[in-house]
Amino acid sequence: MPVDPQFPRAAAPVLQASALAKSFKTPHGSLPVLDGVSLDIEAGRFVSIRGASGAGKTTLLQILGGLDRADSGELHWNGERVSGRGNAFLANRRARWLGYVFQAYHLVPELTALENVALAGRIAGRPRRETNTDASALLERVGLSGRMTHLPGQLSGGECQRVALARALVNHPRLILADEPTGNLDEHTGEEIMALLLELTKAENVALILVTHNIAFANLASQTLVLRHGKLHDETNGDNPENRSV
Ligand SMILES: Nc1ncnc2c1ncn2[C@@H]1O[C@H](COP(=O)(O)OP(=O)(O)OP(=O)(O)O)[C@@H](O)[C@H]1O
Ligand SMILES: [Mg+2]
Repeated sequence: MPVDPQFPRAAAPVLQASALAKSFKTPHGSLPVLDGVSLDIEAGRFVSIRGASGAGKTTLLQILGGLDRADSGELHWNGERVSGRGNAFLANRRARWLGYVFQAYHLVPELTALENVALAGRIAGRPRRETNTDASALLERVGLSGRMTHLPGQLSGGECQRVALARALVNHPRLILADEPTGNLDEHTGEEIMALLLELTKAENVALILVTHNIAFANLASQTLVLRHGKLHDETNGDNPENRSV
């Protein structure tokens, strides 16, 4: 992939969020979800976020990843201000340095495993041959060399999530946002996916923000955060008893 000398700015934190707030308008009035969320992620770091269902974890991840906008607060990616920028800027940066992994995989059903992964490269404007090479190397790396031409409907849940991991990594991102990536999988498959996610992000020094209900997975992170009442609480040492029920 061609290196843009201005991007990314290696010295800046991968992500900086300060005082993010978000409410949703509903027929019954305003529903406050985030109420002053601040977070800094350095290169290669692994941060987990837990919280009760409905606490706002997905909302937060969508805002951090530029898929939704906060009502107020500041967001920087690699030292670049994101808040207030247009959709074209967001789409360009998202494609080039961010990877997403969702609970429900979100693969394109009509495309093969290889095409799903390569598509992310094409969206980022990379040459077809280069993205195909990267996509097939990554699918091999996640153990799917024998499934390249399978459609998502012909793959197991764990295999779909492996494709999604490959897709998230194909553009050599600096940050992966993972929203309950093991939520649809059985315990054993979830552990395999988690191990793969950690192995791949570590190998490439990719920062990871993991939203999970699984305490064991959350505790693998160097920083464990809990979203409660619209704010992030740092519970890295896990010694808050309130913490145990989420
Ligand atoms: N577009 C929307 N319009 C109105 N309310 C919304 C919207 N999106 C989310 N909400 C509400 O915001 C709150 C937070 O939702 P969110 O999906 O972020 O929770 P979560 O922490 O990810 O929950 P879960 O663990 O169940 O995935 C919920 O009460 C939800 O109903
Ligand atoms: Mg959610």
